[in-house]
Amino acid sequence: MFPTPMTGAHKRSPAMLLSLFLMIGLTSLYYFHSSISQHHKSGRILAELHELVAEFPSSDVKITDFATMASRAAVLAKVAELYVKNHALSRDLLRESVVRVFPWWNKQKLAYIPWEHDPAMDKIRTNETGIVVCVGDGNVKEALFLITNLRNVLGSQLPIEIAYAGDKDLSPHTRTFIYATGKNIHFLDLTKVFDNTLLGLSGWAIKPFALIASRFPRTILVDADVVFFSSPETAWDDYPGPAGPGVLLFHDRAVTMDNPRNKRQNFVAEQLSQLGRQPSTHLSHSSLFYWGFVGEEADSGVVFFDKSRPQLYITALFAAWMNIEDIRSEVTWDIFLGDKETYWLAAELLGVPYAFEPWQAGRLAEYLSEPLAKEFNTERLCSPHMVHATADGKDPFWANWGIWQRKDDTTLGFANWTHWYLGARIDKAIGALNSSHDAFVEPTSSGNETLELRRAEHKERVLATQPSWHWRDWEKDSAGCPQPDESRWKPLSSEIADVLHAIVEEAHTINYAWERMKRELNH
Ligand SMILES: *[C@@H]1O[C@H](CO)[C@@H](O)[C@H](O)[C@H]1NC(C)=O
Ligand SMILES: *[C@@H]1O[C@H](CO)[C@@H](O)[C@H](O)[C@H]1NC(C)=O
Ligand SMILES: *[C@@H]1O[C@H](CO)[C@@H](O)[C@H](O)[C@H]1NC(C)=O
Ligand SMILES: *[C@@H]1O[C@H](CO)[C@@H](O)[C@H](O)[C@H]1NC(C)=O
Repeated sequence: MFPTPMTGAHKRSPAMLLSLFLMIGLTSLYYFHSSISQHHKSGRILAELHELVAEFPSSDVKITDFATMASRAAVLAKVAELYVKNHALSRDLLRESVVRVFPWWNKQKLAYIPWEHDPAMDKIRTNETGIVVCVGDGNVKEALFLITNLRNVLGSQLPIEIAYAGDKDLSPHTRTFIYATGKNIHFLDLTKVFDNTLLGLSGWAIKPFALIASRFPRTILVDADVVFFSSPETAWDDYPGPAGPGVLLFHDRAVTMDNPRNKRQNFVAEQLSQLGRQPSTHLSHSSLFYWGFVGEEADSGVVFFDKSRPQLYITALFAAWMNIEDIRSEVTWDIFLGDKETYWLAAELLGVPYAFEPWQAGRLAEYLSEPLAKEFNTERLCSPHMVHATADGKDPFWANWGIWQRKDDTTLGFANWTHWYLGARIDKAIGALNSSHDAFVEPTSSGNETLELRRAEHKERVLATQPSWHWRDWEKDSAGCPQPDESRWKPLSSEIADVLHAIVEEAHTINYAWERMKRELNH
């Protein structure tokens, strides 16, 4: 049903490459775990893997052919894993192989690469965690609010690295101001790490590169306009993700988009079938996106990513590849919106496990008392911000779009949320369809009218378990922002309300200091 892949006849098919490397990989693992006398054999196997990489023709991957790129990256990931297990091996061949697949990767310029550090010998601890934020002069206020929240409200001592693309992106004056905002703040100029003539980095595209260039083995990639309600580091342990697969991602709003929806889902299915692989358990059991019920999967506002695992490090390189200028403009950003879907897509195509929060993004709202309720003609104003829950689903964990009531109209002042709404677990909602006696329609089946009708019913029932989003929900004519299950609205706990109050206080203070500094600079 999906268009046939466009692999040239002269190339090895990705599926063949994959099975080949799997075979070699398993054998080599066996040898690694056996006695020292086998070392020459494992050396030979590695040599064979490297030969395989050296055979990759350097310029024939079509930009649209993510599957071939995935199969190459998968071989690299396997090789990298073998090296991390054996610190005696020289890294030269591995570095050459990585450059062969990702020519912009430059060992000299990168602060952390998992196989360059022997945890037994090295000062860099493989579990060191830090926050990386991409900041430019355009979103510096958001970044200041984020930093003062983390340091002064939540008391997080995690080191923070500010990534930017040269002085034109984030001026030295601004950097000085940010630096003085809190302890343990570092700066990372990505134009000094990567050759930007190869990559054309700008906007969202710089995020996966910041992830790769960051000094932290365990990186939390955070958008400047994220509002945390509790300290981010606890999620490494609370959520099953980072402790298990090492990647934790958050969902986007449960919204459908008519046209791109099928294009997106079909693209993923096509690449998987070209690789000869079934979709992961995540896609088949807990993805409203893959079922074609919503048009968006991830919101990359916060991404937990453990780079100390070599497979994940290569996954990050693959995600970054998808955001290189020609690839993003022809494929990635044409099909998806920005960098946001590339983190899980890279892991999915490499067959590396990853985890998502179990719900689609939740909502925040402000309940109005008189006379505001009369003025707005509603008791409830929904906010345009998405909110994501703590692992137990009991409290908001973080929201996007900044602490302003409306980032696009800051004259409205700061947010004053009072309630929030979280849907049901996605896996439960999909599972419920499966246990009903209706025909159960698998995500990728289509073309049969009866099944399509079933599918539409399923879609309606599943979407009713998640918050709904309407255009202009939060405006005066919003009719109160109705939700499919009104009983799911909950008041913010008094702890969260206190945190919110403190965040706003800090925002007022730093906003004032920033405006004063700018005035002084202009005189
Ligand atoms: C990191 O590892 C060190 C040494 O193994 C250990 O003492 C420390 O508790 C770990 N920290 C975290 C946050 O896991
Ligand atoms: C549907 O149910 C079958 C049989 O219980 C199970 O094997 C399968 O994993 C379920 N699929 C989903 C998407 O829940
Ligand atoms: C926020 O809402 C609460 C409860 O309705 C109200 O008491 C308070 O004055 C509001 N604060 C602002 C800044 O609007
Ligand atoms: C469509 O699917 C239904 C349910 O599985 C089946 O009964 C019917 O024969 C199919 N129709 C066609 C035209 O394949």
